[in-house]
Amino acid sequence: MTQNRLVWLSAIGATVLLLSILGLGTESSVTAGLLDSLGLGGDDEAAVEHPPVPAEYKDKHMPTGWWTDPKAIEEGRKIYMGLVDPEVKCAKCHGEDGKPVKAGARDFRQGKRMDTYEDSFWFWRISEGVPKTKMKAWKDKLTEEQRWQVMAFEHTFSHGGKPEPHTHAQQAKR
Ligand code: HEC
Repeated sequence: MTQNRLVWLSAIGATVLLLSILGLGTESSVTAGLLDSLGLGGDDEAAVEHPPVPAEYKDKHMPTGWWTDPKAIEEGRKIYMGLVDPEVKCAKCHGEDGKPVKAGARDFRQGKRMDTYEDSFWFWRISEGVPKTKMKAWKDKLTEEQRWQVMAFEHTFSHGGKPEPHTHAQQAKR
């Protein structure tokens, strides 16, 4: 008898747990939807939380002044367009004007999202790629210098094609 009761109790307990997990899931997407409809959530993308930057990339930072350096940006443009190495052609997926041409490729024109990219995070992604996506690692094809250059160029897409310093809350936090 008592054992039967125990089984029942734990079954109920498990159900409650499951329901609350499911409930939480819906609740948060409902909240996001609400915020969006109020125009407070920004684009969904901007709300994304980034995975932590691995230790070996944490201390990597854009060389001083390169976000706006015309030479660095021009070198980056050539890399991005595949003019330096035809095998490295970011434009093939991300588009010549930053408007993705391959489904799922990151849209660099989304300023709100790109503002959340710390330089070390961005550099890490270019270096190591994004697992289980078409975005592969470029560290064997691009020197560190070239990776910073291509980043400086990519960054102009979120500023109407113009160089801008990349300063924002995320960066100030480190
Ligand atoms: C074969 C297609 C392809 C090519 C070529 C490509 N990418 Fe990507 N890239 C993607 C896709 C797909 C994603 C989205 C991955 C994801 O879901 O986070 C992405 C994402 C990114 C991101 C954002 C990563 C993140 O976590 O949000 C950066 C930065 C990036 N690419 C830079 C580059 C650079 C620089 C090059 C050229 C050296 C390049 N990509 C070439 C497909 C490509």
